Amino acid sequence: MRRSGRIVRQVLEAAREAVRPGVATMELERIAESKIRDLGAKPAFKGYYDYPCVLCTSVNDEIVHGIPSERRVLKAGDIVSIDCGVVLDGFYGDAAITVPVGEEITEELQKLLEVTRDSLFRGIEAARSGNTVGDVGAAVQRHVEANGFSVVREFVGHGIGTKLHEDPQVPNFGTPGHGPKLRDGMVLAIEPMVNVGRAGTRLLDDKWTAVTEDGSYSAHFEHCVAVTKNGPMILTE
Ligand code: MF3
Ligand code: CO
Repeated sequence: MRRSGRIVRQVLEAAREAVRPGVATMELERIAESKIRDLGAKPAFKGYYDYPCVLCTSVNDEIVHGIPSERRVLKAGDIVSIDCGVVLDGFYGDAAITVPVGEEITEELQKLLEVTRDSLFRGIEAARSGNTVGDVGAAVQRHVEANGFSVVREFVGHGIGTKLHEDPQVPNFGTPGHGPKLRDGMVLAIEPMVNVGRAGTRLLDDKWTAVTEDGSYSAHFEHCVAVTKNGPMILTE
């Protein structure tokens, strides 16, 4: 899983380097697909419930599962969440980053990106044997809400291994001590989705793209994390 995780990271970095004003999200998709194949892996998302692409690219008020498109051209001041999964020798990796477009985004969006990323690391810190899934979610939620943002409820993290999505579900909210107990050897994909405004979501007519109900902007960061006797181990860095 570390090998598939490292490939996901290299794909995300290649996509990140291509982000600039004037680039269509489909260009990121092409870069990612050739990188995945060059590195000897297979895309995990393409064909999953008929999803058409190797990346999800979710711009501004899009939360997750935005479909790369030739018509969606990034402009200065946008934010774009790039989510990628691969499978290598039967083992899955899955990670996401949110990237600013151009030289400057608003201070509020800078804060959104920082808080979302930091909330992921709060969650990772809680991914310890003896803790519960609720401890992970509570750690994410506490950090997000302390900073005045909201966590999406309808989409959650997940176990991952020889399938992209395994038990348990890993919500980005929760009650400390509640939910399934974490044990050494479990691997979780922890993936906070954080809105500037309210938590509500809406699905676009393409039946994939989830957007914020209130039109506020949303960020998404994801890592796969193994629960080990030496504490949390990030597999997607
Ligand atoms: N990172 C998301 C997830 O873990 C992306 C899934 S896209 C899909 O669940 F196409 F595979 F559904
Ligand atoms: Co995931």
